[in-house]
Amino acid sequence: MTIGHEVGATITLQELEHDPYPTYERLREAEPVSFVPAVGLWLVTRHDDVKRVTTDPETFTAATEPSTLNRTMGENMLGMEGPEQQWIRAITEPPFRPRDVEARTQGMIPRLAGELLDGIVDRGEADLFREYADPMSVRSLCFMLGLDEVPWQDVLRWNEGLMPGLANFEGDPVKQAPADEAAGALHAAIGDVLDRLAEEPDGSVLSWMLHHEEGGRRMSRDQIVGNTTLMLSGGLQEPRDVIALTLWALLSDAAQFEEVRADRTLVKAAVEETLRWAGPVGTATRQATRPVDLAGVHLEQGALIGAVLSSANRDPRRWTDPDRFDIHRKEGAHLAFSAGTHFCLGAWFGRHLARVTLDLALDRLPGLALMPERPVTLSGWEFRAPDSLWVRWAP
Ligand code: HEM
Repeated sequence: MTIGHEVGATITLQELEHDPYPTYERLREAEPVSFVPAVGLWLVTRHDDVKRVTTDPETFTAATEPSTLNRTMGENMLGMEGPEQQWIRAITEPPFRPRDVEARTQGMIPRLAGELLDGIVDRGEADLFREYADPMSVRSLCFMLGLDEVPWQDVLRWNEGLMPGLANFEGDPVKQAPADEAAGALHAAIGDVLDRLAEEPDGSVLSWMLHHEEGGRRMSRDQIVGNTTLMLSGGLQEPRDVIALTLWALLSDAAQFEEVRADRTLVKAAVEETLRWAGPVGTATRQATRPVDLAGVHLEQGALIGAVLSSANRDPRRWTDPDRFDIHRKEGAHLAFSAGTHFCLGAWFGRHLARVTLDLALDRLPGLALMPERPVTLSGWEFRAPDSLWVRWAP
């Protein structure tokens, strides 16, 4: 099979940012592996091909060259492959297992949700994206990691400061300088917490990484700092987006919203279906380690690939009526957390946080509805999120 790149050549960044799903449909049908000059990547859009790219690290490595991730954050698990990545996963996974997450957050998550809802409940309307989902996401992760003594506004600011460095593929020193400054401030703050934890271990992820021994050795300080920076960058905003997207999806469908409101065991299914239908992380970036054929297309060694998770999650070859949001769908696992060796470390924590946060909002905000005069706008393709979630309720 020979496939051209006619569709890929016409795609604009603007259309991807605005709404990538119609473009993904065209690509899946006509050019499932397509070089898209607008983004400088080979986009892979069919489910089975995305699965193959994410589960064959010897051929499709996450340790890309150059790695803006490693340069900006320091060495971390998403910028490497092989035994060292597996060793870091073996150390970092235990504190993110369900029982450990519940034990660490059981007092904190409901208490914070209660405080935030107390602050808005009498008002009868609010932007739940800014006033509820965002602080729930940022403050819960800082608490999980053990960074709750650092002002969370600073953590957010430093994290945002890293972004230009992550997008600095051309290695421009002017673009890199502010990112390095933000990374320096964040790394110093993490270092101070580590100094304290060396003397006073606690139940946080940072404390676990500092004291846990695996295969006869411990993580170095640099490894802890680099990987904590990755966890912040990967986890500060995604649970926020999942919370807001789930509410938006439900509130846009009165019948399914009413079902979930009346039967809270369905919150779990609503979060999962939102992750499939509108997951906030669009792509996983990989690089071909050797010449390889994928869906009839020849890729050279070094080809940079965007495995489009959100397209795989709407592929009609895999899902029935894929564009329909259906909380009763029973078709197995989606790819919103990727697959293989880099499957999201914080998946269970993110899900748990979203479920509890949503459940408590439904308890406290009766008659919840979107405000048509302040509509929700989604944008982005690598990361896709709403800009607000204005709702009203009966105070
Ligand atoms: C709940 C919403 C979240 C979504 C949709 C999400 C999505 C993802 C995806 C798609 C990947 C794989 C990227 C790839 O294969 O290239 C990933 C990796 C990762 N995520 Fe998440 N994430 C979420 C929450 C979190 C949270 C709360 C944390 C906090 C610890 C986190 C930490 C990480 C880390 C450390 C990795 C890299 C794992 C590795 O390389 O082995 N994520 N995430």
